[in-house]
Amino acid sequence: MSSPETSEKIPLHVDPTERAWMRAAIAILVVFAISVTIAGFMLGIQLPTTEQRVNPQTLQDAPPWSEPGVREIVAGEQYDVYVVAKRFFYEPNVVEVPAGAEVNFYVTSTDVQHGFKIQDTNVNFMVIPGQVSTLTFTFDEPGSYDYICTEYCGLGHAVMFGSVTVTP
Ligand code: CUA
Repeated sequence: MSSPETSEKIPLHVDPTERAWMRAAIAILVVFAISVTIAGFMLGIQLPTTEQRVNPQTLQDAPPWSEPGVREIVAGEQYDVYVVAKRFFYEPNVVEVPAGAEVNFYVTSTDVQHGFKIQDTNVNFMVIPGQVSTLTFTFDEPGSYDYICTEYCGLGHAVMFGSVTVTP
């Protein structure tokens, strides 16, 4: 014989401190969602995408990777830049593009994982052998912008860099 008390619902007790932390966690998630939306749609922050797959062993046997560098698509307006990362340098290590032009960077590696970060810009991505990482960027101000390796790739990691010269 069961007593009626046992089937009664017991109100869930949540400690006030725990309740406060649950509210804080939800608030933080809302702030993150708003930040990601602003970053993606208003600040133009893009996720680096895998443009294509390549064979790192035969990479430099055929264009465009046999002759990495700048390709003018539309004079003064659009450029493609092909960069090969390898221990411990970039090919080419000097790139020249005009200010205000849309520059598409295509970067891949022939050996290990490297990074590609252009200082004073939000261009920053991993370079993985076998795939081409790409990002589009417009330099508004003329000047010199160094690109550096941001993934530890070996003893020469710290000296792995190149430079984008942006002409007026
Ligand atoms: Cu290449 Cu670090």
